[in-house]
Amino acid sequence: MNFMSRRSIRKYKDIPVEKEKLDELLKVAIVAPTGHNARACEFIVFNNEKDVKKLIGIKKAGAGFLETAQAGIAVVCDTTKAGTWIEDSSIAGYTIQLKAHEMGLGSCWLQLRDRFSPNNEPSDELFSKIVGLPENYRVLCFIALGYADEEKPSYTEKDIDLSKVHYGKF
Ligand SMILES: Cc1cc2nc3c(=O)[nH]c(=O)nc-3n(C[C@H](O)[C@H](O)[C@H](O)COP(=O)(O)O)c2cc1C
Repeated sequence: MNFMSRRSIRKYKDIPVEKEKLDELLKVAIVAPTGHNARACEFIVFNNEKDVKKLIGIKKAGAGFLETAQAGIAVVCDTTKAGTWIEDSSIAGYTIQLKAHEMGLGSCWLQLRDRFSPNNEPSDELFSKIVGLPENYRVLCFIALGYADEEKPSYTEKDIDLSKVHYGKF
């Protein structure tokens, strides 16, 4: 996989995401690493454009791509089973993004934890209501998916800021 060419895609073609591809994404998300091997993450699949559009308005900024996304996977976690639910869900979310990229799909992370709707309602609570999430579960993010309808350049050597790297001490 070319990690340097993965970019967040915020405009998608009007082409559905195949069920087989969604299944592949779910497989790698399910086996992603988790703290204490808790495996408390679960996944809510939005497998068509109409379902994705139900999330429009859930967040006041950075959610415009919901207008064209063709599918998406929300990462939710039973917080009573995993003290590392944020880390576990983050790894699962990024694993989905990397696998999507490998399969030629674009993706973008929609942050829902600690974010708010235009009326200042917590985005994660709105999400829980929409999908009927049990009380012990929290949602971290929704990974929007589809075939890219925008071109974004790959990262290059110029983007690699080695001043961020420290050996042994800061
Ligand atoms: C924790 C996290 C939250 C993010 N939330 C959003 C979001 O709500 N909306 C959005 O458009 N992009 C979101 N992004 C995508 C970032 O803006 C994006 O990764 C960053 O600008 C770098 O661009 P790239 O992914 O193309 O390399 C999020 C990314 C992360 C890791």
